[in-house]
Amino acid sequence: MQVGQSHLFIPGPTNVPDAVRQAMNVPMQDMRAPDYGDLTLDLFRGMKRILRTETGEVMFFPGSGSGAWEAAITNTLNPGDKVLMARHGQFSTLWVEMAQRLGLVVEVIEAAWGAGAPIEEFSRRLGKDTKDEIKAVFLTHNETSTGVTSDVAAMRRVLDENFHEALLFVDGVSSVASLDFRMDEWEVDLVVTGSQKGLMLPPGLGILGVSEKALEAAKTATMRRAYFEFSDMLKVNADGYFPYTPPTPLFHGLRTSLERIEREGLDNVIERHHRLAEGVRRGIAAWGLPLVAEHHGLYSDTVSAIRVPEGVDAREVLRIAYEEYHTSFGSGLGPLAGKVFRIGHLGDLNEGMCLTALSIAEMALYRAGVTLQLGSGVGAAQAWFAGRTEARPLLHIAAE
Ligand SMILES: Cc1ncc(COP(=O)(O)O)c(C=O)c1O
Repeated sequence: MQVGQSHLFIPGPTNVPDAVRQAMNVPMQDMRAPDYGDLTLDLFRGMKRILRTETGEVMFFPGSGSGAWEAAITNTLNPGDKVLMARHGQFSTLWVEMAQRLGLVVEVIEAAWGAGAPIEEFSRRLGKDTKDEIKAVFLTHNETSTGVTSDVAAMRRVLDENFHEALLFVDGVSSVASLDFRMDEWEVDLVVTGSQKGLMLPPGLGILGVSEKALEAAKTATMRRAYFEFSDMLKVNADGYFPYTPPTPLFHGLRTSLERIEREGLDNVIERHHRLAEGVRRGIAAWGLPLVAEHHGLYSDTVSAIRVPEGVDAREVLRIAYEEYHTSFGSGLGPLAGKVFRIGHLGDLNEGMCLTALSIAEMALYRAGVTLQLGSGVGAAQAWFAGRTEARPLLHIAAE
């Protein structure tokens, strides 16, 4: 029998605040009622503020981030269109595979798992594309499998420097509402996210931000689509309605989570994620374990992917944490299976929760055979959170 709480430190779904859970406990209601827009219209406005867009449209599709990926592609591109994508982790790999399955010709830029999206290589290929054959570039803002954040603003710069008209697609699944993201300023054409990460909701919504340029492209795009048709959505969204049954309880939850983010302030939410991530990273550095991210400029403030020493199986760390301490950490995905475990540090999170994560990870690592000083990670994070000047400077182990 389990006594006490279990702990969820995976990079999504994240912990749902009690207020959000309670807000979703509503009687079913008529999604064609005359006052349905009282619930939904504010959500479009609120989500635009999170994406920092005034000119773009927001769409909510029942589904998840992957559904929103599909909606973005099928509404704006044509079969056989050439697109430029990097492959440097599990989610960028899956996105490439989806684009290929949908009939795009994908020029793949390979990079190490742990590297950022190779912006210079994007620039080189865009520069060579004098006939504007590349119709879109895709960027995974936060590669959740490796804990790497890439530079969206730099991608916009290279598009502009090369006078290239390609659409800019951004996967913001594990960045939106947690990391700095600016749709209008960076002229992102399609940003994709899901409800279950920074927005602190259960899974179930695939969310898109769509620029005016992408909406224009959608008017002539010939890729086949039905359920995810933008124009069906937009026609009725204007009055707060949906073309098919929407997940109304999630909308009630979203209303509360948007209110919470606004009350804290989006900038403060982003700053909190940075402060908490830094504490977690100091803990990891104190264990002497390297991150997958190749250097500190890439460190993600929403998830840390940690390499375990040779001879230790990261699956054993996960098993001990789960079975002995009722705690879930993220597993190593794809080629990182068994070599890496991940701590998700995003959403409804505070210092105490991060210390719990470090403390349990420390015990699980120790019992799985990693040589470390029990308490070292927790102590290093405490020193950072408590603001003590002797807090150990962060060791950029991966870069050493
Ligand atoms: C960066 C990234 N992209 C896409 C996805 C897929 O999203 P979903 O599982 O919501 O379909 C995930 C899921 O974790 C992700 O982290």
